[in-house]
Amino acid sequence: MDMPPETTETQNPGQRPGPGEAGAVAVDGPILALSGISVRYGAVVALDNVSLGVRRGEVVAVMGPNGAGKSTVLKAIMGLAPVVAGEVLWRRERLAAATHEIVKEGIAFVPQGRRVFTHLTIEENLEMGCLHLKDKAEKQRRLDGVMRIFPILQSKRGDMASAMSGGQQQMLALGRGLMAAPDVLLLDEPTLGLAPIVVGEVFDKVSEISETLKTTIMVVEHNIKGVLDIVDRAYVLDKGRVVFTGTPKSVRESNILTEIFLGKSGAS
Ligand SMILES: Nc1ncnc2c1ncn2[C@@H]1O[C@H](COP(=O)(O)OP(=O)(O)OP(=O)(O)O)[C@@H](O)[C@H]1O
Ligand SMILES: [Mg+2]
Repeated sequence: MDMPPETTETQNPGQRPGPGEAGAVAVDGPILALSGISVRYGAVVALDNVSLGVRRGEVVAVMGPNGAGKSTVLKAIMGLAPVVAGEVLWRRERLAAATHEIVKEGIAFVPQGRRVFTHLTIEENLEMGCLHLKDKAEKQRRLDGVMRIFPILQSKRGDMASAMSGGQQQMLALGRGLMAAPDVLLLDEPTLGLAPIVVGEVFDKVSEISETLKTTIMVVEHNIKGVLDIVDRAYVLDKGRVVFTGTPKSVRESNILTEIFLGKSGAS
């Protein structure tokens, strides 16, 4: 099944869902889970009966080739995808709310493509992450917290976001997500298009967020080698289905990624 009990986590050898298990509901209380989710865009089945989840404090990767449905997993959580079956469970209850309500519940989403507001300053961009927060002291406290994690944002706080490098814009996008003080942070391809040295910095920051803020993180990534170094568990998606789940060690020891990226997946 998709979420092995916590007690057996360290022994989990990694597994492919067996017959009838693809839609299994996790029994071991993930804070956020997809249960039997299917998403269709017209004739395209983007997700087919997907169940996966993340426990409080975990960092979980969602990996797979282009078009596998990775971004759709995050969009389904945020109420941004046409879900035709299944449910998203938040703290064990069905999450069925408008996207802005979902953010208020404690789930922040940093979408694919570093969408920063280039015509705003860095500080203004960060403030966009908690627009509805009226408490000025709390807003300042969050700003200070983000600046501590990303000192580069502190030193450039009055600069326009358009003047930042790609890596700095990604840090800004992460910081804006954190301004919502989320319990769970959803990251879609945070290292996409970045220079190799910056890729490492972004992964380091993701780890730091997890360790210092105890934020639960679900990260979609193409950079398999890099992301496997920082996560507790990983899901591999192919053609809209979960084809493997396990620890980074079990993913590395299996040949699932080679199979999938070479198009030889048994899941097709
Ligand atoms: N708005 C949309 N309209 C139609 N089809 C879509 C839409 N969004 C996604 N799809 C399709 O759904 C499938 C899954 O897309 P998704 O973006 O989730 O993949 P992905 O794994 O994130 O890929 P990538 O690595 O390229 O970002 C693909 O076949 C894609 O073409
Ligand atoms: Mg994507």
